[in-house]
Amino acid sequence: MPRRSAATPRNPAALRAAARVHAYPGFGLPSPALRLAYHDHPVPHPRLQALDWRALPALHPALDAPLAEVLAGAPAERVLDRLLRALRPDAAGRAAAAEALFGVGLWRRRLRWHLGEAEGTPRLLLALLLRELCGREDAAALAGLPPGALPPPRPPPDGLADRWSLPDWLAGELVAAAGPEAEALAAALCRPGPIFLRVNELKATRPALAARLLAEGVATRPGRLAETCLEVAGPRLNLLGLPAWRDGWLEVQDEGSQLLAAALGARPGEVVLDRCAGAGGKALALAAAVGATGRVHCCDLDGGRLDRLEARAARAGAAGLVVRHGAAPPAGLTVDRALVDAPCSELGPLRRGPDLRWRLDPAAFAPLPALQGRLLAEAAACVRPGGRLLYATCTFRREEDEAVAAAFEAAHLGWRRVAPSVPPETLGADGALRLLPHRHGTDGFFAVAWDRVDSRP
Ligand SMILES: C[S@@+](CC[C@H](N)C(=O)[O-])C[C@H]1O[C@@H](n2cnc3c(N)ncnc32)[C@H](O)[C@@H]1O
Repeated sequence: MPRRSAATPRNPAALRAAARVHAYPGFGLPSPALRLAYHDHPVPHPRLQALDWRALPALHPALDAPLAEVLAGAPAERVLDRLLRALRPDAAGRAAAAEALFGVGLWRRRLRWHLGEAEGTPRLLLALLLRELCGREDAAALAGLPPGALPPPRPPPDGLADRWSLPDWLAGELVAAAGPEAEALAAALCRPGPIFLRVNELKATRPALAARLLAEGVATRPGRLAETCLEVAGPRLNLLGLPAWRDGWLEVQDEGSQLLAAALGARPGEVVLDRCAGAGGKALALAAAVGATGRVHCCDLDGGRLDRLEARAARAGAAGLVVRHGAAPPAGLTVDRALVDAPCSELGPLRRGPDLRWRLDPAAFAPLPALQGRLLAEAAACVRPGGRLLYATCTFRREEDEAVAAAFEAAHLGWRRVAPSVPPETLGADGALRLLPHRHGTDGFFAVAWDRVDSRP
């Protein structure tokens, strides 16, 4: 498993942070012209330019230590939470503190490049963020530095890793995955994603949820790809404090993740296995698809995540539909469909955390394909003849995606690859679902579906 801190897109603290702090106006699906503009523009965050930075001078002495912590590897969301609890600033101060910590955390490599040979304190990096990425001529003063403290400006860097502030290994992964689109993918990973909601179809329809959210102060628009999806369209409140959330009408979930659950094609009354159910993002969507007469069998190595799944299922009105197991399915379990949402390098959701890229250890990726292949084979053994199997990841590394699917096919001749139940524009020529932030506006995901055409496994 890749090493990562507790603040990932999959845990509640990060989700709360996404719903509360990292909740910027959504960019939606960029038009080709807009994509080109992002691609060419050295300042990828118009949002950073638009922010009212006047609150910063009152904050910056208190920012030095938190900035240093983030640069040393502490999760930015947690550091920010602590800072805001200590300072209790007004709304403008909260926004400035969040952008300062997240901006320096994300752009550290790019900012060090602008620094050149000079020694860089965290405050100097903050001032460079203001000058280079926010276009502020008063950057030094805003950051509380004397005139002349900043090195002379340099033109934006040419290299992918410096330009988009990527570790070298990640720049290599982007080129390997996206080739000529690597620059556009890198740019998309530097913009916070939109906030997507999934309607819980056990309790509401999408239009009913949209109307209720509007009444509760949250404007939304329908997602473009998943039928269950709403995208938050306006300024948002604390989503997890809304009555609609407390009543179990919605989950905060990326549109791509919703599409993966839909891709299994589960129908009312079916029995489904979620081989790596985690805290239940997809299991709860599957529960809504199979309905009161179906069942979703859930396994995961991490019992704490399964505890969270059970709590979420209760809120969603799905407690009776979800069957909890341990790390593996029980002997003899036979299902109509199985999902393997495999543990992976998790490069697809990197835009969900400004510093996630700096806290991943690529050395931890090597054992993943073998584990993914094993989990896939185990799940396949549970699927009845005629049933369906879906292999999914949230990464764009081919070693964990296409190569694992191909190895499964080489070893399991009784399966036929089929197009998953998703909009055709998300499918490649090989029949695989491939979602990329710069193309689809979602986090990055991959999936392949097979039908079992032979009674032999
Ligand atoms: C991609 S996450 C699943 C996310 C979940 N399906 C969702 O939608 O929220 C992969 C999961 O695989 C689990 N996992 C890792 N190794 C495992 C193993 N050997 N057996 C079962 N689960 C495993 C992890 O604990 C993690 O929850």
